[in-house]
Parts: sequence; C-alpha cells; structure tokens
Amino acid sequence: MRKYLMAGNWKMNLVPSEAKKFAEDLVKSIKDLDKDVEVMICPSFVCLPAVKEAIKGSIIKLGAQNMNENEKGAFTGEISADMLLDIGVEYVLLGHSERRHIYKETDQLINKKVKYALAKGLKPVLCIGELLEEREAGKTDEVNRRQLVEGLKDVSANDMANVVIAYEPVWAIGTGKVATPEIAEETQANCRKVLSDLYGQTIANNVTIQYGGSVTDTSVDGLMSQKNIDGALVGGASLKLDAFTRIAKFNKV
Ligand code: 13P
Repeated sequence: MRKYLMAGNWKMNLVPSEAKKFAEDLVKSIKDLDKDVEVMICPSFVCLPAVKEAIKGSIIKLGAQNMNENEKGAFTGEISADMLLDIGVEYVLLGHSERRHIYKETDQLINKKVKYALAKGLKPVLCIGELLEEREAGKTDEVNRRQLVEGLKDVSANDMANVVIAYEPVWAIGTGKVATPEIAEETQANCRKVLSDLYGQTIANNVTIQYGGSVTDTSVDGLMSQKNIDGALVGGASLKLDAFTRIAKFNKV
C-alpha cells in the first residue's frame, strides 16, 4: 500500500510570522483528516523553526525546499542536512524545476544531494518533469527516464522506501495549465515502469509518486483518482488555507 502525500511547496513566500500563523491555522483545519494521508509543508529555510513549533503534535510533516550536498564548510549561503535535521525536518525537495532551470542544477548534482540526504536520514522528494518543447517533441518519457535514472544512480533498493518522486511537468508549474488526469496518469505510469526496470515491480509499486503543476482544490479529485497518482506537490494553492485544506481532504471520484 502506497501512502498518499499531499504537500505544499511555499517557495519564496511568507515571512516567518506569516508562516507560523498559516501553519497554526492548517493544524486546526485538517484535524479530522483521513489517517491514510500524509500532509507536508515546505516553507523557506528561515521559516522552518517557527513552522516546526506550530505543527508540534499534529500530523503535518515538515519539508525543506533544498539542501547542499556537502557535510559542512565554506559554502556561503548554503544549508546542510545536519542543519535541517537539527530543526526536525523530515523531507527535502531536490531537483525542483526552479532549481534545475533557474539555478542550473544538473542531474549529477541532484543525484549527489539525493544520496547525501538518504545517508543522513532525510527523505528526498526527487522532482522531475519535462519542458513544453520536450513534450511537443515527443520526448516526455525519455526526459523523465533520464532524470529518474540519473537522479537515483547508486541509490539502493532498500533506500527506495524513503524516496518520494514528484512528477511536475514544467509547462504546468505556475501557469494555471494543470495536466489532465489522463496525461498525468500516463506519464506517471511510465515513471513507475522506469522504477520497476531499476528496482523491480514490488519496490516500484511501493514508491509514492506525486503530481505537481497548477493543482487546485478543483482539479485535485480527478488527479487523485488515477492509479499512479499518490499525492500532490502544490505551489500557489498551498498558500491559500481553504484551498490547501480541500486538497489535503481530496475525494476519489
Ligand atoms: P504551482 O502549484 O504553483 O503550479 O507550483 C507547483 C510546484 O512547483 C510545486 O513544487
């Protein structure tokens, strides 16, 4: 049985006092949530301590948005796994489209981060996804295969129990153009096939694969009704309490 993971990626939004208040309100609004569903929020680094405090004792998990691949040292402006662990962070987003495209992170760098996070006991959410021109050129599956194979290079079968995949087509991120449930399902089924080629069917069947890209409270049910969609990674709508609460409380249709 795969677990459902409904996550908010707050990106570079909310100051610590706002983040704390939002997290406190979210704790109240999802109190009666189904036990099979995990909810996570990924605030900016400086908001992590306040949010950790606000979600204490609740079911909400804490994730960071990035992490450096080295233990410590002269890496001005970077954040280490130990720093995240000391605050009580459990998950870390790695290879997000904005890290790949704005900050030029490569599959090789992302792979180092994934392996380092796992070695430290953090759960990586490996984000993958094709550009619009890659989809239009018929390269969707090839791109996602490459990002999975390279991103998971030398990750052991045992470690896969702690890895989450987030399929986020770049053309759907922040554009309001959510993938149809059918397109997301087809692509994610192919991603699971890649995991099966790498690790075998049993392990592949246990990996949570989220969909991300313009998910809203109105599109979540259709997406979550698909066989290979096990959660959502939500940007814009995760900053609206009502919308994100409804997303966390999705219904299968
Ligand atoms: P939006 O939901 O704003 O499209 O962002 C998706 C995303 O990038 C989550 O990581």
